[in-house]
Amino acid sequence: MSPRYISITKSSINSETRHKNAIMLTIFLALVTLFCSSNAQLSSTFYSSTCPNVSSIVRNVVQQALQSDSRIGASLTRLHFHDCFVNGCDGSVLLDQGGNITLSEKNATPNNNSARGFNVVDNIKSSVENSCPGVVSCADILALAAEASVSLGGGPSWNALLGRRDGLVANQSGANNSIPNPTESLANVTAKFAAVGLNINDLVALSGAHTFGRGQCRFFNQRLYNFSGTGSPDPTLNSTYLATLQQNCPQNGSGTNLNNLDPSSPDAFDNNYFKNLLNNRGLLQTDQELFSTNGSATISLVNNFANNQTAFFQAFAQSMINMGNISPLTGSQGEIRSDCKKVNGS
Ligand code: HEM
Ligand SMILES: *[C@@H]1O[C@H](CO)[C@@H](O)[C@H](O)[C@H]1NC(C)=O
Ligand SMILES: *[C@@H]1O[C@H](CO)[C@@H](O)[C@H](O)[C@H]1NC(C)=O
Ligand SMILES: *[C@@H]1O[C@H](CO)[C@@H](O)[C@H](O)[C@H]1NC(C)=O
Ligand SMILES: *[C@@H]1O[C@H](CO)[C@@H](O)[C@H](O)[C@H]1NC(C)=O
Ligand SMILES: *[C@@H]1O[C@H](CO)[C@@H](O)[C@H](O)[C@H]1NC(C)=O
Ligand SMILES: *[C@@H]1O[C@H](CO)[C@@H](O)[C@H](O)[C@H]1NC(C)=O
Ligand SMILES: *[C@@H]1O[C@H](CO)[C@@H](O)[C@H](O)[C@H]1NC(C)=O
Ligand SMILES: *[C@@H]1O[C@H](CO)[C@@H](O)[C@H](O)[C@H]1NC(C)=O
Ligand SMILES: *[C@@H]1O[C@H](CO)[C@@H](O)[C@H](O)[C@H]1NC(C)=O
Ligand SMILES: *[C@@H]1O[C@H](CO)[C@@H](O)[C@H](O)[C@H]1NC(C)=O
Ligand SMILES: *[C@@H]1O[C@H](CO)[C@@H](O)[C@H](O)[C@H]1NC(C)=O
Repeated sequence: MSPRYISITKSSINSETRHKNAIMLTIFLALVTLFCSSNAQLSSTFYSSTCPNVSSIVRNVVQQALQSDSRIGASLTRLHFHDCFVNGCDGSVLLDQGGNITLSEKNATPNNNSARGFNVVDNIKSSVENSCPGVVSCADILALAAEASVSLGGGPSWNALLGRRDGLVANQSGANNSIPNPTESLANVTAKFAAVGLNINDLVALSGAHTFGRGQCRFFNQRLYNFSGTGSPDPTLNSTYLATLQQNCPQNGSGTNLNNLDPSSPDAFDNNYFKNLLNNRGLLQTDQELFSTNGSATISLVNNFANNQTAFFQAFAQSMINMGNISPLTGSQGEIRSDCKKVNGS
């Protein structure tokens, strides 16, 4: 972007025109800045000439994976979240430890023995590379896989925004500290969302992703026996549900048993998650807090989504776009990885 048409003949300018030119140059540079930053926007048509069929390629691989693993859509959706909350949506969660990646995000507390779906991401990448070699980033694959997973689960469809590039680093301490953990207060979770530019509408809508998938006992065991050192279970936990959970999650068990995040429809993407919260049947402490924190602005949002699935679906799609916009690498930043597990050349 060279400013060709403001070439100036030095000999012909007096101080007044020089002053005017300085103002014009300032305005011009402001416009250039504006244009360059608008180039950094993601776009739903980013691959329309370089990989026009990328959405259906991704969707087909997800659909195939669902045949043998009904949970995989949930796992893939979560990967996009865990990617975006750490250094933006840059595929950093996918990098294996080794070489320059000394501390992977995969091994960070929220992901270790928990995040899954990496093999399916690799299968998607292979399928995309077969049709369009070297053009689609792993970060965009995560955004497309999340959309495909939600819509194949019966949830909303949306046009994912694309054009992200893949990062060159992982940030394990970032993953430890930026991804909310399930025993945090609502105020703390809200602060972690705010730190990446998401508000409580986003928090409540996106928490609705817990309408599918599984949770290990170790993430909510503290609610079942001795909540916050009270010697009793979490008082906001439905007593019938408590008994069921205690059955599957013995006090001194390994904590790795799986539980449906939404027992009423474990693999379907619907608004039952919010109906559960009204019945004190949220699995994680952070789920139930959205409805059971006295005086919280989240309560009316939960009520609305429990009563109106259309409202939830609309809000969820918008908030996924908001989450997908967290600090993407664009233009010539980062790279297009050829293997989602590794930085190119490593
Ligand atoms: C609000 C803060 C959140 C917390 C504290 C949280 C925490 C958790 C935890 C502890 C699990 C269980 C993992 C396991 O047992 O291995 C889980 C699962 C899951 N989370 Fe979240 N999560 C949050 C927000 C989100 C968001 C924003 C999304 C996506 C938009 C999401 C999508 C999922 C999905 C789909 C699963 C099931 C994954 C599977 O079955 O593999 N979560 N979450
Ligand atoms: C796009 O992909 C779908 C599913 O793989 C396939 O049915 C369709 O023919 C493809 N279209 C083009 C233009 O390649
Ligand atoms: C991840 O889990 C493994 C056990 O599977 C454990 O040995 C390792 O220390 C954990 N990593 C971190 C960084 O906590
Ligand atoms: C992340 O947290 C785990 C568990 O507390 C810890 O072992 C690991 O060292 C932390 N990583 C960093 C980079 O702080
Ligand atoms: C790692 O993540 C933290 C918190 O998200 C952030 O403050 C920090 O700048 C990141 N570090 C690097 C090297 O990207
Ligand atoms: C909330 O965050 C603060 C500051 O990081 C921390 O000291 C506190 O333990 C957190 N509270 C909960 C319930 O997670
Ligand atoms: C509950 O936890 C508190 C604090 O950790 C402990 O002092 C108390 O003995 C425990 N109560 C029971 C019944 O285990
Ligand atoms: C669990 O372990 C604690 C201490 O290790 C013990 O006091 C308690 O009786 C055990 N509970 C059960 C149900 O085995
Ligand atoms: C507990 O769950 C059952 C079944 O959903 C429901 O009928 C009941 O009202 C719930 N109890 C409370 C206190 O929420
Ligand atoms: C919320 O208010 C209700 C009714 O006023 C009360 O019973 C309950 O203990 C409060 N919950 C919390 C977490 O403070
Ligand atoms: C449900 O939400 C949608 C979208 O916000 C809205 O258009 C519709 O009027 C709502 N339906 C009812 C019955 O409130
Ligand atoms: C690894 O880091 C070194 C030192 O910063 C750098 O020169 C090298 O290019 C990096 N390797 C890769 C594959 O990024």
